[in-house]
Amino acid sequence: MESTPHAPSSPRSFHAILVTGGAGFIGSHVIRRLLQTHAELKVVNLDALTYAGNLANLADVESDPRYTFVKGDIRDAELVGSLFDTHRFDAVLHLAAESHVDRSIAYPLAFLETNILGTATLLNVAKQAWTERGCMDEALFYHVSTDEVYGSLGDEGLFSETTPYDPRSPYSASKASSDHVVRAYHHTYGLPVVISNCSNNYGSHQFPEKLIPLMIRNIVDQRPLPIYGEGINVRDWLWVEDHAAAIDAILTQGWVGDTYNIGGLNEWRNIDLVHKLIEIVDAHLGRAEGHSKSLITFVKDRAGHDMRYAIDASHLESRLGWTPSVTFEEGLTHTVEWYLNNQAWMEEVTSGDYQQYYEAHYANRG
Ligand code: NAD
Ligand code: DAU
Repeated sequence: MESTPHAPSSPRSFHAILVTGGAGFIGSHVIRRLLQTHAELKVVNLDALTYAGNLANLADVESDPRYTFVKGDIRDAELVGSLFDTHRFDAVLHLAAESHVDRSIAYPLAFLETNILGTATLLNVAKQAWTERGCMDEALFYHVSTDEVYGSLGDEGLFSETTPYDPRSPYSASKASSDHVVRAYHHTYGLPVVISNCSNNYGSHQFPEKLIPLMIRNIVDQRPLPIYGEGINVRDWLWVEDHAAAIDAILTQGWVGDTYNIGGLNEWRNIDLVHKLIEIVDAHLGRAEGHSKSLITFVKDRAGHDMRYAIDASHLESRLGWTPSVTFEEGLTHTVEWYLNNQAWMEEVTSGDYQQYYEAHYANRG
């Protein structure tokens, strides 16, 4: 079976792609980008619409004839199989997951079920369908993963593709397991796969349980800004549209069997990042400098809190020529402006009204 990474003979062009988790934060950016950059591509978005799925994130593409939304669970092998029969996918771009570390500490089993069994279900259906159609050579299964599989860094060093796996939360353990299952399907059955492991994303349409949108919302509303522990944990932040661009590059030019780390070489301690957000939000709202600093509240640390993540993305850069397109200052300012200009989005997400979107827009379409 094929196991040495090898380049495609020319950039791939797919006929129909199954995107999972497209109603989430990163997935919605990726779908918008795919429709913009691939004129002939049919995109089917399979999403269970958990609390994290919000179809309003894709309101601007829902009438595009190349785009189809299907509400369903990636663990439903029958449904996934019928979608393969109907749409004859030649690519799977798998993003659906339970994605929030704090929730994984509270509800670990949901993470293991969706992230491991869900991934295995998709792999199995893809293997069967592509074997029956005899099209393994033209197909691709792309698994979108996280840098958290590598564990936690000290003050020095970067995660590279050869860093040993050392996941430490139920979330990262579930993503590490799913990476292993993806590789197992490649080595054992010759399934054409590619994996990317990305650092922390930020940008528009992110659910306000994650640090940056939560802090923006609380600064706007003048609510406490909860900082875990001493706020000295470090994350490497990447603009979500740069992640989407990297995913597009890997989808079309990534070497089969290869792994790509994606990151911004943009490390920030949480406390410094929150100060930066205070500065930008207060300035945009015409408040005096430092107005919201008193909202900072140090709270109990996250259990098993990883200290530092930082990515060496040189493999992706040298092989596929990808680099981030914006500075952090630009990306963060753009992001703050989006949340300030889209407060209705934030209100709907916070109140739960966004969960009515599917019934209102899709339920009577048959
Ligand atoms: P998200 O939580 O915003 O979205 C996840 C989506 O998956 C939601 O739309 C949800 O409804 C859907 N989903 C969940 N369980 C499902 C199931 N059983 N069946 C079908 N759909 C289901 O997540 P995100 O931040 O957009 O992350 C997307 C992917 O990227 C995840 O795999 C995550 O591990 C990975 N990732 C995220 C980051 C980040 O910083 N957010 C960084 C690196 C990698
Ligand atoms: O590194 C990639 C990962 O980044 C992704 O795989 C995950 O899906 C994504 O959620 C993210 O994980 P983190 O745990 O790093 O992100 P989060 O936004 O939850 O937290 C960022 C840092 O901020 C982390 O050190 C915890 C801290 N934090 C977070 C919240 C929500 C706080 O101090 N206070 C908070 O209220």
